[in-house]
Amino acid sequence: MEPETFVKEAVTEVREQVGESANAVIALSGGVDSSVSAALAYEAIGDRLTPVYVDTGLMRKGETEEIRGTLEYMDSLRTVDERERFLDALAGVTDPERKRQVIGEQFVRVFEREARDVDADYLVQGTIYPDRIESEGDIKSHHNVGGLPEAVDFEGIVEPVRDLYKDEVREVAREFDLAMSERMPFPGPGLAVRVVGEVTEEKLHVARAANHVVEEELEAYDPWQALAAVLGRATGVKGDNRVHGHVIAVRSVESRDGMTARAQEVDWETLQRIQSRITGENPEVSRVVYDVTHKPPATIEYE
Ligand code: XMP
Repeated sequence: MEPETFVKEAVTEVREQVGESANAVIALSGGVDSSVSAALAYEAIGDRLTPVYVDTGLMRKGETEEIRGTLEYMDSLRTVDERERFLDALAGVTDPERKRQVIGEQFVRVFEREARDVDADYLVQGTIYPDRIESEGDIKSHHNVGGLPEAVDFEGIVEPVRDLYKDEVREVAREFDLAMSERMPFPGPGLAVRVVGEVTEEKLHVARAANHVVEEELEAYDPWQALAAVLGRATGVKGDNRVHGHVIAVRSVESRDGMTARAQEVDWETLQRIQSRITGENPEVSRVVYDVTHKPPATIEYE
């Protein structure tokens, strides 16, 4: 694939599919796939495309601001603050699949509202080739807005990057100067799948801080993904006090497409620095462990 040619062809295709007067909507996750799809569609139909970014409160540190900054050249960009809605909906939910469902349902509700508001005829989606293979194989429902086509009666679905692999999408992202082109993949349900069990504001706060440390410290290892997850609680000592603090798992993996992965070998000094930063910055954390499991048998995310 030659990025410049791909962009020209994809833009023409979107224009032909949507036509001269129809409106379209796209849900931005902050990831590279939906951002590139939005950039292509925006080039094709301009402000007749409404890109919608929902702040779920499940994003990484500074991410919402970065996404807004990168895509604000699209005049029709909408950002909606739905942090409270997601936290409320997740209260008491501990089952991992249920958690994904709850998040998916809330997404659909918000997008349905936005799509109706702009009279959207078409839905643009950032589906890439491996997503199609995974959905066909029914491994896990990765599409956060998977229920959207049923909720709103769209005239059609536009998937400008449906035949590309992740590394090709990144190449196209560079054509558009999109900052997220180099970022590690981040799951749609966000930090919710990096908190084992019930998601609370406090655990999200700890997860956000720990993920930031891990991404910073492990960047040099060039991982497919490096992450931190809040596992549960264990006993520790802080100062003169016995605490029942959070246990943080640190994970760093190499992978080509996320389907399989190898845990990376990380040097002791780096691991100790991560441990000391995470426990130092977060009084609620009493223990940090490193995950040495490959995929399979583990998955990359914790839920
Ligand atoms: P797992 O945990 O299944 O993850 O080994 C494989 C890759 O997929 C990402 N992932 C998701 N991405 N929605 C997404 O958009 C999801 O629900 C989801 N779950 C996992 C994960 O980060 C990894 O890159």
